[in-house]
Order: sequence, then C-alpha cells, then structure tokens
Amino acid sequence: MLHDPNRVYVFDTTLRDGEQVPGCQLSTPEKVEIAKELEALGVDVIEAGFPISSPGDFQSVVALSKAVSEPIICALTRANKGDIDSAIAALQYAKRPRIHTGIGSSDMHIKHKFNSTREEILERAVEAVKYAKKSVEDIEFYAEDAGRADVHYLAQMIEAVIAAGATVVNIPDTNGYCLPDQYGSKIKFLKENVKNIDQAIISVHCHNDLGLATANSIAGLQNGARQIEGTINGIGERAGNTSIEEVVMILKTHQVLGLYTNINSKNFYELSRMVSSQMRMPVQPNKAIVGSNAFAHSSGIHQDGFLKNRENYEIIRPEDVGFPDASIVLTARSGRHALKFHLERLGFNLSKEELSLVYHSFLTLADKKIDINDNDLLAMMGKQQLA
Ligand code: KIV
Ligand code: ZN
Repeated sequence: MLHDPNRVYVFDTTLRDGEQVPGCQLSTPEKVEIAKELEALGVDVIEAGFPISSPGDFQSVVALSKAVSEPIICALTRANKGDIDSAIAALQYAKRPRIHTGIGSSDMHIKHKFNSTREEILERAVEAVKYAKKSVEDIEFYAEDAGRADVHYLAQMIEAVIAAGATVVNIPDTNGYCLPDQYGSKIKFLKENVKNIDQAIISVHCHNDLGLATANSIAGLQNGARQIEGTINGIGERAGNTSIEEVVMILKTHQVLGLYTNINSKNFYELSRMVSSQMRMPVQPNKAIVGSNAFAHSSGIHQDGFLKNRENYEIIRPEDVGFPDASIVLTARSGRHALKFHLERLGFNLSKEELSLVYHSFLTLADKKIDINDNDLLAMMGKQQLA
C-alpha cells in the first residue's frame, strides 16, 4: 500500500492503555460511546482492548468492532498463541482488524521479566507475528521497552518481524526513559539500518514518566515515524501516555515540519470532557490544549497585550480545539485594561478618571476574593453609584 510520506496516522489507546489506570475502568456501552466520538475525531486506529485479559474486555472489543466502521480496530496481545487466538475471535466483526502483538526488547526485560536470552526472544517475536498473520493481514508488532533496548538488537528484531509480516512496528518508550534526541536517534537508526523498513510504518508510543512523552513523539516523527500512539488527556499507565491533542496541535502549529493528520481538532474539547467524566479523571487546569486555564489570561501584562491583539498571547485559537472562548480572568493581578473590558461588556462606559476610582475598589475586593465574577462587578458598580 502506498502512503503519503507526510501523513501521520493517529492510533488512539485511550480505551486500552488509558483504561488500565486504576479507577478509569469503563463499561462496554461507555467504551462504545467514546469510540464513536474517536471515530468522529478522525483517529485512524482505535486500540479497543486486550481480549485475553478478561471476558469484559473481550466483549468490549467485539462491541467496538460492530459499532465503529471507519477506523481500524486493534486488539492487544502478548507474543503467545492463546492471546492471539483470543484477539482473532474478538475481532471477528471488525471491518478493518489489526492485531498488536509484541514482547520485551531491552536486556532488562529479556533477563528480568522473561528470564530468557536475546535469541529466544527474537524467535518468539517472529513466531507470534507469523502466527497472527495467518488470520489477520494487518499486524502491528511492539518491541516493549525499546527506549532502553540496545539499538543493534532492536534493529535485528524489527527486521525479523517485518520479514515475518508486520505492517507496523511500534517502538515504545515504555518507561518514559528517553530524552527527545535519544529517542529521535533511535528511530533514525532503524530507518537507516533496517533494510526492509520501507515495508512497514514506524510507530511511536511514549510514556510520560519524565514529562517527555509529547516531545519524544515529535522527535520520533521528525526522524521518520509516521504513526503516533496516545490517549485523550494523556491518560495512561503511571504518569500517562502522549496526549493526542498535544501532538496534533504541534503539527498544526509548526507547519514547517510538513506533517499532517486526519484529525478534526474542533472535537478535542468536548471529547476531553467526555473522557474525563466517564473515567472519573479530572483534567488538570493547566493541561495544554484542553485544560480549563489553557486559554485564560490572568496577569495584567498579558491581559493588556491580549486585548491589544490576541496573537500577542495566543498561538492556538480556542475555537480550533472546540474550546468555548479565551477568557480574561479578573484577579488582584489584573490591570485597568482588563477591568475596563469587563465593565464595558456589562454596559459601563467609564472615563479614565472614573475607571481609576473603580479600579481601586476592584483591587480591594480582589485582594479578598480569589476571582471576580460578573455579579461581583455589578455589586461593586452598584455601591460605586450609591456612594
Ligand atoms: O508501553 C508499552 O510498551 C505498551 C505496549 C503494550 C505497546 O503499552
Ligand atoms: Zn504503553
């Protein structure tokens, strides 16, 4: 299949890596509801679950396969026949099924998780891909803990699984260990040294243990990866996964990278709130793109600059991610310009002198109250007029 070299595929794992988080478990109908919104968002792949892990997860993969038709539906397995058989059965109704199988690739995992050797693990990886390929054409292979794996061994493993039929090769930084240039170099090495690499898409799957998941994913894309894996709101194991909304908006903002996705970014805000409420996982207010403060301006200097020209302090338009609108928050750090803006909105047109007077009352109030709303302003103006 021919791929546009600039197109980045988006693989959503909110319902698998995201749903693994304690307290975030969803019922099948809840997963179906989110999957339909992910389809509307335009993701290319939905990782629907890990079918062998529980009967509930198996049923969810079946239900999602029936409910969603556009994106590829993917099921996770370990590198063994039982897991793969279960995934094949769960995917039987999927219009476009994908099996995501894999095994540890770092010496740490090989020795201390599998008590095995590099040779034996390589063999198991190849066997798993060959076995899955007999039933499903689209096979993604993950080299778990690739972030800490020896790059020469990793290259050998990737070449072997592509030869065995893998269509996508996932290079996870499972522990969020890498620095962006280390991760980028790893992808570059694979691109330059795996002789059949052009027969597969390289995928990046980064965790956020050091807060570098998004930066590492972008470094991967800059070095030749063309699929990114992530979740809505960045939820996932431990400190989470790459946030899909962050990667998509980085590619839109930095068009110089020459990369694009199929995502309708205007759906981000609503989907973020849906995932947050169904998973009972609040979005931190300062979360990039979808946090409640992502478009709120509160210091006097910023408010003044924003009111003169929003682009002074706005690199993304809130409407581009479905955010209600930018806001000028009134606090004790706000300046006259912001107060004037809000008073005019409420119908008060004051002279410079009147504004100065009101501004002093406002500061006294704002020192006592954390943030000031329209009712506070109306009450303050009422008192002002009576005085
Ligand atoms: O982080 C990881 O390595 C994973 C794999 C199962 C892809 O989630
Ligand atoms: Zn993961």
